[in-house]
Amino acid sequence: MGVTSTLLRRVPLLLAAGLVASAPLLLFVGSANANNLNPPPTTRKNAGTPNSTIVVKNKAGVVIKYGNKYITYKAPSSKLDTLGRALFLENCASCHGTEADGVPANGTSGAYPDLVGLGPATIDFWIDSGRMPAKDLAAVEAPRRVPALTPAQAVAIAAWVNSLSASYPDIPTPHLKNANVAEGAALYALNCAACHTIEGDGDALAESTFSPSLRHIPAFQVVEAIRTGPANMPRFTGNLSDQQVSDITKYVTTEIEHPNNPGGLGLGGLGPVAEGFVGLLIGLGLLMLICYWIGDRS
Ligand code: HEC
Ligand code: HEC
Repeated sequence: MGVTSTLLRRVPLLLAAGLVASAPLLLFVGSANANNLNPPPTTRKNAGTPNSTIVVKNKAGVVIKYGNKYITYKAPSSKLDTLGRALFLENCASCHGTEADGVPANGTSGAYPDLVGLGPATIDFWIDSGRMPAKDLAAVEAPRRVPALTPAQAVAIAAWVNSLSASYPDIPTPHLKNANVAEGAALYALNCAACHTIEGDGDALAESTFSPSLRHIPAFQVVEAIRTGPANMPRFTGNLSDQQVSDITKYVTTEIEHPNNPGGLGLGGLGPVAEGFVGLLIGLGLLMLICYWIGDRS
């Protein structure tokens, strides 16, 4: 029983100290999705324009359908305008105003985002993802929720808002059978992983905002998000072709949904640093216990 052995007896204590020291890290990771306080109104405009092999115009010469074999975009029918207006007055006008210009009844201009000219895909995305009608005005970022309105109601509202000032992008339908998932993985790593993480779990961004998890998002909404850039997400228009967007969408709706874990614990996909840290903690602990055991026998 020499000095070494006495030292080795302290190993459990050292391990406990290590765990306590790592608590702030775990807390930090746990609080990554916390959010609070007032939203800055979004004023960004959409400018996505049809640039495609398929182009269908109505009698007035307005493009109502466009796209290619990867994604087709369709304008909501103007027959839905009346229904859409009624639904808007009931569900949206209290905040966005009766003219959808972001001026509510009390007349405070700029209090809420102006929706005129945002394009049908934007309106459809915010309703279908359950973000709108907003429930919690204190949230910095309206979160994804179970939608309060049906997909058909969302299309009707998009039709009416679009009738105020026709704009693009229209509502997309991706044709994922033509998409390449390997290309999608590479494009995802380049364009999306910085915010949503390589495994699509989402992460905290600056100013109490966050990039959400990309699991369980319907394919057309992935396209809508890429093409319209909700809130702090950049809008990918000219820089990604429809083929590339559909590749990414296939990757997000297949691989990310069923990740091929390369081994080890999932650990919430925190990445190599955190995983290495946990590995070190457990690995080192085991090594020390072995030393302890060897030391005891001598
Ligand atoms: C209780 C108030 C409230 C109601 C009701 C509401 N919204 Fe909003 N809306 C907001 C706020 C606040 C934001 C900004 C939130 C954010 O950026 O996360 C917003 C953002 C949006 C955006 C994004 C604007 C942009 O520039 O990207 C759209 C689209 C939208 N709302 C549509 C609707 C529609 C359609 C309805 C009705 C179905 C609706 N909202 C109902 C408060 C509301
Ligand atoms: C600069 C950071 C950033 C980048 C880069 C980015 N996103 Fe986002 N993304 C966000 C944020 C922030 C939101 C949430 C916006 C909101 O809720 O208002 C979001 C929302 C989404 C949503 C909606 C998820 C939901 O909960 O409804 C999808 C889908 C999405 N992003 C996919 C992508 C894809 C695919 C790419 C790459 C082409 C990408 N994003 C690139 C920050 C980013």
